[in-house]
Amino acid sequence: MHQQSILVAPSLLAADFSRLADELAAIEQAGADWLHLDIMDGHFVPNISFGPAILKALRPRTKMPFDVHLMIAPADPYLTAFAEAGADHILIHPEAGPHPHRSLQAIRALGKKAGLVLNPGTPIAHAATMIDMVDIILVMSVNPGFGGQKFLHAQLPRIAELRRLIDASGQAIRLEVDGGIDPATAPACIEAGADTFVAGTAVFGTKNYAAAIAAIRGANDAIATIRGGGSA
Ligand code: DX5
Ligand code: ZN
Repeated sequence: MHQQSILVAPSLLAADFSRLADELAAIEQAGADWLHLDIMDGHFVPNISFGPAILKALRPRTKMPFDVHLMIAPADPYLTAFAEAGADHILIHPEAGPHPHRSLQAIRALGKKAGLVLNPGTPIAHAATMIDMVDIILVMSVNPGFGGQKFLHAQLPRIAELRRLIDASGQAIRLEVDGGIDPATAPACIEAGADTFVAGTAVFGTKNYAAAIAAIRGANDAIATIRGGGSA
C-alpha cells in the first residue's frame, strides 16, 4: 500500500461566483491543499465556465496551488495563457488534440506540472504510454461538464490499475479523482490507491468547509460532525 498523504482540492465551479475571493479565503482557512479550476468551453464539454482572466484575478488572493483542469479543445493554443495567469498544474484530456504527448511537453516547458485526465470511457493505455510525461493522473469519476453528478463506481478498478502503473513506474505522480467525491465515496478511492481528491458540491455545498475537507481526507471525527449536523 502506498503512503502518500491525502490532498483535497475544492473545485471553484461549486463556489458562490459572486464572492470568489471570500470563498477562496474560506477554503484555504479550512485546510484545502489545492484549488481546482474547471475550464469549460461549451464544445469539448456541454458547459461554459471561466477562463484565464479569473485565474489572474484570484492568483494574488491565495497561496494554494492552482490545479487547472482544461476541458477545452484545442487546448494547446491556451497553455501559455493559463500558465501566465497563475496555473501551477495544467491538466489536459488526451481527446482534446491530436498530440497529447506534445501538449504535456509544452506544459512542462512552461515550468508547470503536467496532468493527464482520463474520462470514464478513456483507455488507461493513454496513461501507460505517457507515464514519463506526467506529474498528475486525474481519473474522472463522472463524465466531465457539470458539478453535482453521481460517482461512477466502475472507475474504482481503473484507479487500482493506475495505482499499480504509477508504483511500477517509480515516479512521484499524484493519482487524483474528480466527480461525485464526498466523505462516502472517497474511502473506496483511497482503498483503490487514489491520493488526491477534487470536491465541488461536497465542500461548497456544506456550511462547514473545514469539516467537509477533513471528512474527505478520512478524519473520523469530521465525518461524525457532518453526519450529526454539528458545527465543530
Ligand atoms: C466536472 C468537473 C469537476 C466538478 C466536480 O466536469 O471536472 O471538477 O467540479 O464537482 P462535484 O464534486 O460536485 O462532482
Ligand atoms: Zn475538474
